[in-house]
Amino acid sequence: MSNRIQIFDTTLRDGEQSPGCSMNIAEKVELARQLERMNVDVIEAGFAISSPGDFQSVKTVAGVVENAVVASLARAVPEDIDRAWEAVAEAVSPRIHTFLATSPIHMEYKLRMTPGQVLETSEAMVRRAKSYTSDVEFSAEDATRSDPEFLARVFDAVIKAGATTINIPDTVGYAVPDEFYEFLMKIRHRCPALDNVVISVHCHNDLGLGVANSLAGIRAGATQVECTINGIGERAGNAAMEEIVMALATRRDMYGIQTGIETTELVRASKLLSRITGVTVQPNKAIVGENAFAHEAGIHQHGVLQNKETYEIMTPESVGFKANQMVLGKHSGKHAFRTKVEELGYDISEADLQIAFEQFKNVADKKKSVYDQDIEAIIAKRLDEVPVAYELERFVINSGNSITSTAVITLVRDGKSYEKVARGEGPIYASFQAIDKIVGKRMHLEDYQLRSITEGEDALGDAFVKLEADGQRYSGRGLSHDVIEASILAYINAVNKMIYEASMAEEAAN
Ligand code: KIV
Ligand code: ZN
Repeated sequence: MSNRIQIFDTTLRDGEQSPGCSMNIAEKVELARQLERMNVDVIEAGFAISSPGDFQSVKTVAGVVENAVVASLARAVPEDIDRAWEAVAEAVSPRIHTFLATSPIHMEYKLRMTPGQVLETSEAMVRRAKSYTSDVEFSAEDATRSDPEFLARVFDAVIKAGATTINIPDTVGYAVPDEFYEFLMKIRHRCPALDNVVISVHCHNDLGLGVANSLAGIRAGATQVECTINGIGERAGNAAMEEIVMALATRRDMYGIQTGIETTELVRASKLLSRITGVTVQPNKAIVGENAFAHEAGIHQHGVLQNKETYEIMTPESVGFKANQMVLGKHSGKHAFRTKVEELGYDISEADLQIAFEQFKNVADKKKSVYDQDIEAIIAKRLDEVPVAYELERFVINSGNSITSTAVITLVRDGKSYEKVARGEGPIYASFQAIDKIVGKRMHLEDYQLRSITEGEDALGDAFVKLEADGQRYSGRGLSHDVIEASILAYINAVNKMIYEASMAEEAAN
């Protein structure tokens, strides 16, 4: 048995199915690049037939990924399989991932198919996928609530039809680890052909057991594990990649298993996903949470000072938290800034570095100490930018607890100033209304968040908005010492993304 398992990341597909986690094409590409940097083995880029947008994202991701396998999900119906292939065909290593439910409840109520029909369809659709590519994955949806005898027959049939990976999902997060282990062993015993293909597990987290079940699956012989960054996914999510990877790395004595993942990239991946979706992880989240390596109790601090291993089973650096907290300030030059950016793991162009450096200087003018988090926010903001359509010229707000707020906003586009006044409940809402008037479009604010990057009175405010217009979603970020300004900048950033994407779509159509 090989001791190297494959990490199949489904953040862009199952992960994106979680509420509030939808991503546009550019964001998916950015995340896919990070997944490549981490050495993920398989990237499930989406569900090609589900919408034209999804199709385009899978196709675009397939075109940029160089090393990982790129998969598209497909129901076990001909149109899905054909569309999945159309989307991944240009990938260096394409995969079609087709699925059909095998549990009695799904077959009877959802599919309205007999077990015989499920068996026949699975086999036929794997054969169809195989006519396109040698790399075909079959998933038996709701496998853990299926009859093992029947499951083994389905697996036998799809392996004969050419499936090279067999996925055994705990779709509803119902299994418990010992049971899942036994279940897999039983199926392997009944279907010896599984020894010749990759066995995969895909565990949901409804009982908080996604990672534990995945590890039990690995013990039972799975050599591919499906997971997501930060554990996002349907309902309570999927097994979290960072937890599986670090459990295997930290407890090599127990599992004797390796992944190819560059663990020092885990924190960056987690932050990138949070930045894109606006969904932050809880501070006590294992591995990547802000407090995952913080020691509060005096007795713990004392122990760690004597010997880190008293309370640390892995180092913060091993997952990508930075040890060096060298603080920059207004006297720091470009060289120190560049060194810090590189240390933080960013590889940005000279032009982006110059712009980020100017922003850093502005921040340092108002803030005594500029911390790593401030610099990461500046760089993240820079990477989030699209060509500017509208720019903020000025704003005036009249607000109080006994009056309706009024905002006067002036934006510049192509050298021309546009000014509008709007009234609303609170200064932020009034400002957003005034921007809507200038842009001439009614946008729906789906999410708005404001946080401070660091502590202290001079902390930078980081605003995040998610807008919906004509069925599409656009997120935006704004940074400023003034929280109203940060909010206005975030809104303008989202509007500029909307304009940019519309122009890109128009260009593609011509
Ligand atoms: O949870 C599940 O069963 C799935 C399949 C489509 C693999 O996501
Ligand atoms: Zn799933």
